[in-house]
Amino acid sequence: MKIGILTSGGDCAGLNAVIRSIGLYCTRNIPGAEMIGIPDGYGGLIRGDSFRMQEKDFEDILDRGGTVLGTSRQPFKRMTVEENGESRLEKMCDNYKKMGLDCLFTLGGAGTHKTAALLGFEGCNVIGLPKTIDNDIYGTDVTFGFQTAVEVVTDAIDRIKTTVASHRRTMLVEIMGNKAGWLTLHSGIAAGADMILIPEIPFDIDAVCEFVADSRRDKPYNVIAVAEGATLASEAAYKKSERAFARQYMGETTITRHLAEVIGERTGTETRYTVLGYLQRGGTPCAFDRLLCSRLGGVAAQLAKEGRFGVTAAVSGGRITFNALSDIAGKYKLVDPNGPTVKFAKDIGIATGTK
Ligand code: F6P
Repeated sequence: MKIGILTSGGDCAGLNAVIRSIGLYCTRNIPGAEMIGIPDGYGGLIRGDSFRMQEKDFEDILDRGGTVLGTSRQPFKRMTVEENGESRLEKMCDNYKKMGLDCLFTLGGAGTHKTAALLGFEGCNVIGLPKTIDNDIYGTDVTFGFQTAVEVVTDAIDRIKTTVASHRRTMLVEIMGNKAGWLTLHSGIAAGADMILIPEIPFDIDAVCEFVADSRRDKPYNVIAVAEGATLASEAAYKKSERAFARQYMGETTITRHLAEVIGERTGTETRYTVLGYLQRGGTPCAFDRLLCSRLGGVAAQLAKEGRFGVTAAVSGGRITFNALSDIAGKYKLVDPNGPTVKFAKDIGIATGTK
């Protein structure tokens, strides 16, 4: 059995732990298993690049950040567009056949899953694995890489708090997550942020400033966790691209710097901002992710052995389950503004930028 593996989209901690788990399971439990690495995600499959992986390639990578296979972003909307007589999707299907693959593991986020569903529809035997620090893949309680990012961001905010408190400042910390507020919500609560601004709850700039001014009566400093996708209530109806266009006058696509300026001007507090950026995706996976990745990889590999394809691994109530790729492709899991975590955060006094 020839088994391909690729990692696609933005990297995160835990990709190598999944690769290792799949590799070790297959080489030990599937007689005659040949492991084929495809470099640079769908980019490698489009080009037709591959290499044979041996058992030694899977050893010692459990705790390594990033991906030993490399990755790239290949926008879903370009997959079916014909370029020089052939679409990227057609090239991938051709190369899948030329490589003689019996199955392909695609480790990636929501976009990767959409393309995986297309590949499945075209007859490739695909099994997805849910990766992303954004935690926004539909149908799974958690994605791998998320918890490590929560730990990293929580640690970063903890560190920021000591300098903010010393200077009696207001600090905005910009956190990744694309259109989802999970990373900001979880790490904001874990680090004791005073306010959490997430895309799912468009904020009112007056409410934000009032909160900062009011809270300064009891507390000498403030930390505000701002998701990179956070939006003003006045921008809520815009699509991401329209919002980026509307914000061109600020020279930035996120709201953080502008918000810091307004808070500083209106409240008279010394206000700074920090963009955490790519350090949120780097480094070694935490123990939770190592265990999750090992379980996900092992169980997904078992599915390949059983010949069950067209699915993606998921976590539901602590158990590993599977969803049909066609059922989850194109859907996102976002924070419920009225859900228990947001409610609990509000109950303990964390503001969300609304009146
Ligand atoms: O999807 C993961 C993610 O880190 C998002 O949180 C972020 O918006 C995006 O990737 C950044 O992408 P890139 O690596 O292409 O700049």
